[in-house]
Amino acid sequence: MENSAIKIGFITVSDRASRGEYEDLGGPAMQEWIAKALTSEWQPVARVIEDEQTLIESTLKELADQEGCCLILTTGGTGPAKRDVTPEATEAVCDKILDGFAEQMRAVSLQYVPTAILSRQIAGIRGESLIINLPGKPSAIGECLEAVFPAVPYCVDLID
Ligand code: MTE
Repeated sequence: MENSAIKIGFITVSDRASRGEYEDLGGPAMQEWIAKALTSEWQPVARVIEDEQTLIESTLKELADQEGCCLILTTGGTGPAKRDVTPEATEAVCDKILDGFAEQMRAVSLQYVPTAILSRQIAGIRGESLIINLPGKPSAIGECLEAVFPAVPYCVDLID
């Protein structure tokens, strides 16, 4: 992740944000967190989409395969509700699942809220992209990224 102008994908998965019924707070929260964490040059590729599995899958593929994002963060759609299908879409497009990321994010999140067990968030690799699911609540984004980010640059280097 030390190369100049790497691309990072940010996908907000939310029916209501995608319809403009409320402001997308998750996308900006993810970008702000990354801006503070990275000193190297990076470009955002941001999308706001509905909770539709095929759309999530095609957006993940677009950001990984066409845009060449080395890291793709998603926010939202990880819970138990019927429309929550982000983990299913992520699993469907990944070559490998990195269980440790989800284990660590949920373990750390439980220190903040008991409802952290409701998130089915996963992480995995598609080609040369690391994909990490984050819950939809903006405060959860920093809590989860804080927990796993120390391993992210090394992981991205290994899959490059
Ligand atoms: N994780 C952290 N760190 N902080 C939170 O506030 N909220 C939980 C959980 N994980 C939360 C969290 C709640 S209330 C839900 S329902 C699930 O994430 C799923 O959220 P999502 O469907 O918006 O992805």
